[in-house]
Amino acid sequence: MLIKEKNQLKVDDRLKHIAFIMDGNGRWAKSRLLPRKVGHKFGAENFKKVVRLCFEAGIKAVTVYAFSTENWSRPKDEIDSIIALLKEYIEAVKQEKDVRVVFIGDKTSLPESLSSIMIKAEEETKHRPLYLYIAFNYGGRAEIVKACNELIAEGKAIISEADISSHVYTNEMSDPDLIVRTAGEYRISNFLLWQSAYSEFYFTNVYWPDFDRKELYKAIENFYTRKRRYGGLNKDEE
Ligand code: IPE
Ligand code: IPE
Ligand code: MG
Repeated sequence: MLIKEKNQLKVDDRLKHIAFIMDGNGRWAKSRLLPRKVGHKFGAENFKKVVRLCFEAGIKAVTVYAFSTENWSRPKDEIDSIIALLKEYIEAVKQEKDVRVVFIGDKTSLPESLSSIMIKAEEETKHRPLYLYIAFNYGGRAEIVKACNELIAEGKAIISEADISSHVYTNEMSDPDLIVRTAGEYRISNFLLWQSAYSEFYFTNVYWPDFDRKELYKAIENFYTRKRRYGGLNKDEE
């Protein structure tokens, strides 16, 4: 059941894991005649707020799409500004006492100066209870290929769904219950392809830097109106 008390939402086990495709930073900036990288700065600020609101609402795991394997095709100065914001956040997350950060995506092809601080932050926060998965240099197809290659290396000749589920990056957490995409695009852009098989999707035209408490609560309240069937029927539908 969803509870709302004094403008504070509290979720139950129906919504354990929420994921965000944080899209629209560039258009947000452009609409204000600002450079795209300013959009990323405001987007990064907003990400911190939204993650906090999710945990305050009782959600156990948050996954955010920060940088895809395809985003390397962007201009270098835009990429540099995103990496600088990531580095700032890696420092900041250490002060968040309950948040366990896990970077999902291919760290091996990142500069060592970046991957080493990511791994260090994961180590330093790993005893904490609330999962924050940050998808950086992440691609859903690459993740499935990685899982298969690991299984081959383990000597498996035949693989099961459970094998792949246990080799995707988010294997310690159940699949996302709700995936939110901002900025009016209706696609998955190579995000959580394996894990989203039965996720609920919520789309909004709001650009990511403007996705505030009100918008988050709208998405959560909408999720609570959904009937999840997993291919079957609910009791009242039989
Ligand atoms: C999302 O915002 C952030 C990243 C992809 C890094 P965009 O930068 O894609 O913003 P738009 O879609 O161009 O507005
Ligand atoms: C998806 O947004 C990736 C992130 C939000 C990090 P994109 O802006 O890269 O997606 P497309 O190119 O519009 O599909
Ligand atoms: Mg975009």
